[in-house]
Amino acid sequence: MPVDFIQAGLIDNLEFIEKGGVMKNIVYLDNNATTRVDERVLAEMLPYFTQHYGNPTSRYYPLAETAKKAVEISRVQCAKLIGAKPQEIYFTSGATESNNIAIKGFCLANSNKGKDIVTSLIEYRSVLDPFKELEKSGFSVRYVRPDHYGKVSVEAIEEALTENTILVSIMFANNELGTINPIDKIAEICYRKNIIFHCDATQGVGKIPIDIRKIAVDMLSFSGHKIYGPKGIGGLYIRKKTPKIKVQPLVNGGGQRNRKINKGRLDHSRDWQFIALCAI
Ligand SMILES: Cc1ncc(COP(=O)(O)O)c(C=O)c1O
Repeated sequence: MPVDFIQAGLIDNLEFIEKGGVMKNIVYLDNNATTRVDERVLAEMLPYFTQHYGNPTSRYYPLAETAKKAVEISRVQCAKLIGAKPQEIYFTSGATESNNIAIKGFCLANSNKGKDIVTSLIEYRSVLDPFKELEKSGFSVRYVRPDHYGKVSVEAIEEALTENTILVSIMFANNELGTINPIDKIAEICYRKNIIFHCDATQGVGKIPIDIRKIAVDMLSFSGHKIYGPKGIGGLYIRKKTPKIKVQPLVNGGGQRNRKINKGRLDHSRDWQFIALCAI
């Protein structure tokens, strides 16, 4: 079937594929939306679906121990990618969940310290929507405008801060514009003013070197499917520091996953892919 039929909207892609059609001559230029799973990543993952399928939070038998080991190795590899400690990495279902935990989870746990929070107008929806939700429950949000290059300036952030600001969330790189924000400088200001700084680095991690030992970022979100991993796996880095960054879990029940940050069963086949992913 000619590809023109799809472009003309005469049949939808799914129907076309279900009928056995193969789309040819496609130039895919949307890697910021998602990437193909790298074959090396897939090869690393497959045994964890059918052979090493134990529950990593169970104990005392080899199937579970192998699964647990895979998750922990994955955590180490993932930490290495951004210069973190393994204990600072929490696996999530993607950057959407990471952003929600970092923003809502942090604000709800720390509202006694202040209710002013800052973000920019060009953040991804999974940052903007949690801010809107918080606004409805009494937080005061300042949405910083980007400059005419599409970047969030340090000066604009500085202007938006008040004595009651508890959180700033600015993305590393914009998914549509491709602009890269001066994250190190924004983090530095937040650090000096004792404000927690979250960065949605979904479009940065794995593409641009990020070493959180050199940037004063407190929380950092990232995602697997932007860097040749499968959809449905992501990570949240939370810096271990004193006083501890308190984050309230958003989902209750279970309790196995990620030491109380998000609760559900670990999918080690997907976590495992991070090993391969981070090594590539
Ligand atoms: C900047 C940014 N943040 C967050 C996300 C959401 O990532 P995920 O699909 O892993 O939830 C995306 C996805 O396009 C993104 O580009």
